[in-house]
Amino acid sequence: MRDDGIAPRLLAWYDAHARDLPWRVLPQARAAGARPDPYQVWLSEVMLQQTTVAAVKAYFARFTALWPDVRALAAAEDAAVMAEWAGLGYYARARNLLACARAVVERHDGHFPADPDALRALPGIGPYTAAAIAAIAFDLPATVVDGNVERVVARLFAIAHALPAARPHLVAAARRIAAPDRPGDLAQAMMDLGATICTPRNPACTICPLVDGCQARAQGIAAQLPARAARPPRPTRQGLLWLAHRPDGALLLERRPARGLLGNTLGFPGTGWDGSTHPPPLNLPWTPLGTITHSFTHFHLALQVLSAPAPQGAQPDRGAFLGRNAFNPDDLTTLMRKAHDLAFPEPP
Ligand code: ADE
Repeated sequence: MRDDGIAPRLLAWYDAHARDLPWRVLPQARAAGARPDPYQVWLSEVMLQQTTVAAVKAYFARFTALWPDVRALAAAEDAAVMAEWAGLGYYARARNLLACARAVVERHDGHFPADPDALRALPGIGPYTAAAIAAIAFDLPATVVDGNVERVVARLFAIAHALPAARPHLVAAARRIAAPDRPGDLAQAMMDLGATICTPRNPACTICPLVDGCQARAQGIAAQLPARAARPPRPTRQGLLWLAHRPDGALLLERRPARGLLGNTLGFPGTGWDGSTHPPPLNLPWTPLGTITHSFTHFHLALQVLSAPAPQGAQPDRGAFLGRNAFNPDDLTTLMRKAHDLAFPEPP
């Protein structure tokens, strides 16, 4: 297949099979002139960098119900946004989300700019997100390359270089597929093809609209691409967490420093994660409950959880006792929720 045959086939497939997603304007409606809300496109793209489409739907529904537009989000309390983000991970993204909403209000009068460079200049918007918003929200001819698109083009053109070094080759290959009259649909068609047909392990080549021109399929290597350089094994870091609970049910919590992993999120006081020692926040008869584990991108974490009853008037060195009216376990990060659930298992 010549390069200029790829986009028309892909778009014909998308016209018939586009996924109906809450932030998406389907191709028929788009053809009739409808355009997605740039706020919703931006919000969904930031969330989709964290997790799957299936998981994003619930977060997206809650965020847009609470904050229906960028002005509403810009005016939100930081802690309320962090609490709604709980469970998605990469809390720096939630802080950038707020910073971006506020910058759009201050710099652009509450309207996302229809310009990739102005989008890039906003907090938390990198080259991928800028291109995705430019194409999907504004139908600008930006080349949008996420993990799905990397896989599709690596296979289509049998690009065997290993990631991450292959990235510039994959971006150049993606540029060869263009639909000047439908950039937004093309970007989303590539993503949908990668998510539903050109999948990582068992690509459904027999029903792929691009099978005729796929060089990896012709060479029988589709499932092996894209190649990846071996990652160094992740080290395991260790530490302690202290869960103090008062007779009235209040728990000792503290906000983590703004910078660094899980920055600004609420959690139980603990040691550093580098094996260093720390005095406990209160002198109590601490009992070990067990160890929780959690994996971050660059390391695994194993935290020993200690718990103790604290007297009602206890004065901790760090953090504060928060009752159920001031804190909801659902607002904890996944890591801290694991510690909470170890100490206070859900009744069967
Ligand atoms: N993955 C990332 N962005 C997406 C989008 N807009 N549609 C579908 N899948 C996506």
